[in-house]
Amino acid sequence: MRILAIETSCDETAVAVLDGERGLLAHELWSQIDLHRAFGGVVPELASRDHLRRLLPLLRTALREAGTDATQIDGIAYTAGPGLVGALLTGAALARAVAFGWRCPAIGVHHLEGHLLAAMLEVPAPPLPHTALLVSGGHTLLAEVRAVGDYRLLGQTRDDAAGEAFDKSAKLLGLPYPGGPQLGELAQRGRPGACALPRPMLDRPGFEFSFSGLKTAVLQAVRAAPATEQARADIAYAVQDAIVTTLCAKALRALQFTGHDALVVAGGVGANRALRTRLAHEALACGARVYYPRPEFCTDNAAMIAVAGLYRLRAGERSGLAIEVRARWPLEELAPPGRGRVL
Ligand code: KG4
Ligand code: ZN
Repeated sequence: MRILAIETSCDETAVAVLDGERGLLAHELWSQIDLHRAFGGVVPELASRDHLRRLLPLLRTALREAGTDATQIDGIAYTAGPGLVGALLTGAALARAVAFGWRCPAIGVHHLEGHLLAAMLEVPAPPLPHTALLVSGGHTLLAEVRAVGDYRLLGQTRDDAAGEAFDKSAKLLGLPYPGGPQLGELAQRGRPGACALPRPMLDRPGFEFSFSGLKTAVLQAVRAAPATEQARADIAYAVQDAIVTTLCAKALRALQFTGHDALVVAGGVGANRALRTRLAHEALACGARVYYPRPEFCTDNAAMIAVAGLYRLRAGERSGLAIEVRARWPLEELAPPGRGRVL
């Protein structure tokens, strides 16, 4: 089965072609970061308009790169939620129209299921069942992945996502949007112990996170610090350390709880070096192995939507002709491919 996949849930326009036997044939991505930078965050209306501009050219490029045409596509997968409604609708409308024109089935995919399954594109793929830490700009959660489509939420953030905490702290340090990666680089020059920040929820039992208090502490630290490059780097180090320490502690606790020997880390923050190093080290010490998608599949992309779509289309799942998307869509509403209600 050969799938065309479309992702437009936020500020990345992406198209991919995945073949069930030959693997990933193409993946194209257009990032809108430059468009939103001046506003310090994603502007939903601008995002939708830009998706409209980019989608068709990207689709043509992806088909060309894959060396395939409409007659060889057996199904379309598109992100149906959660995300920005206007942005989701652009991808869903195109997917439905293309599926109708090409006479093939289409399936609306859950964006977070895409993130969770992105590591399946790598060799070796993570074993099932496993524990997953999903850390992106919009979500931070720990889940037990019992099988494809069978997810048990262990805990999530009560307020800001880890990526949001990185980005908001980066903004306070004067770094350009979406500062997470730059904060990580600045932190490399920071000195351990030079600045102290709280570790949110670290002492609480369970698997919940809370990062909204961190930005107040960062604001105070920025105000109190001298205006030197070293002081900024020290604060960046402390921010990263606070977030990474919390994520690691809860992920390790989740591994102990589930008894799994594999941890999958997905989402944009999974590209953070300090998190990767610390997790690899700590997981190994308790006999578990950590699996990641390659960095470009940690952040939003269409390859991960193709993977999730392939599992579901193969099982005979199809979405109806209506162009339906969901801004909110709890992960636990999903069922294994072929066994649940389809959007
Ligand atoms: O998964 P993603 O592309 O988008 C969502 O679905 O939310 O994640 C983007 C988030 C942003 O907050 C970005 O700053 C963060 O991931 N991020 C990082 C790094 N690379 C991306 N945060 C810290 N260190 C990084 N290297
Ligand atoms: Zn995402």
